[in-house]
Amino acid sequence: MITSDGSHTICVTGLNEHYHSIHGAVQESEFIFIKNGFDTYGSGTVRILEIGFGTGLNALLTARRTLTQTKKVFYTSLEKYPLGPEIIHKLNHHTFAGSRGKELFEKIHSSEWGMMTDLLPRFSLLKIKGDLVSAEIHGEYDLIYFDAFGPDKQPEMWTGNIIKKISGVTKPGGLFITYSSKGEVRRLLNESGFSATLVPGPPGKRHIIRAIKN
Ligand SMILES: C[S@@+](CC[C@H](N)C(=O)[O-])C[C@H]1O[C@@H](n2cnc3c(N)ncnc32)[C@H](O)[C@@H]1O
Repeated sequence: MITSDGSHTICVTGLNEHYHSIHGAVQESEFIFIKNGFDTYGSGTVRILEIGFGTGLNALLTARRTLTQTKKVFYTSLEKYPLGPEIIHKLNHHTFAGSRGKELFEKIHSSEWGMMTDLLPRFSLLKIKGDLVSAEIHGEYDLIYFDAFGPDKQPEMWTGNIIKKISGVTKPGGLFITYSSKGEVRRLLNESGFSATLVPGPPGKRHIIRAIKN
């Protein structure tokens, strides 16, 4: 379906949930994960962990951002249900990602699962097929894009154990960003070693959560 900024999203009828905001998929991802996440974090090498690779939109916007700044990104994304090419090819996200959007979108989707691949001089991608609930997560990350389906639709992705698992692989001073503004999520983050605050959200969302690892 088409969202308010003209970009596509996918509706999961079984959950009655969308992959992105119906108020603008690209606008929402850009605002939450790039402006309030990537752009505000660090310098040098940045290791990103994304929960929910989905359409690859957040990966695309982050890859494009590395073309105009100096951070080197290692982007790891976990996904339980990878989308097939018949769906990916129908998405128009690349048309919102500048002159190299199509090339980047294709590289992101054709890169092999399970293998860290250099896609740009400052952007390497590792897509992992796995289930956040049961998978062991390895590594140390600077920046977490927590982009699971909503806590009301998939509560098993937002439990204390899951947030502790994520906390365990987040570096001190690292940043956790999500579109959710739920008090319960903030509480779990604060109990799991983060300092979580509400910050203004994109159109259609009053607030989002931004949390720093203590
Ligand atoms: C809101 S969408 C992510 C949107 C995505 N970041 C993008 O840029 O298009 C949530 C994603 O989480 C995935 N997911 C659902 N359950 C999961 C699980 N247990 N482990 C890992 N990923 C899961 C879904 O398949 C879906 O792709």
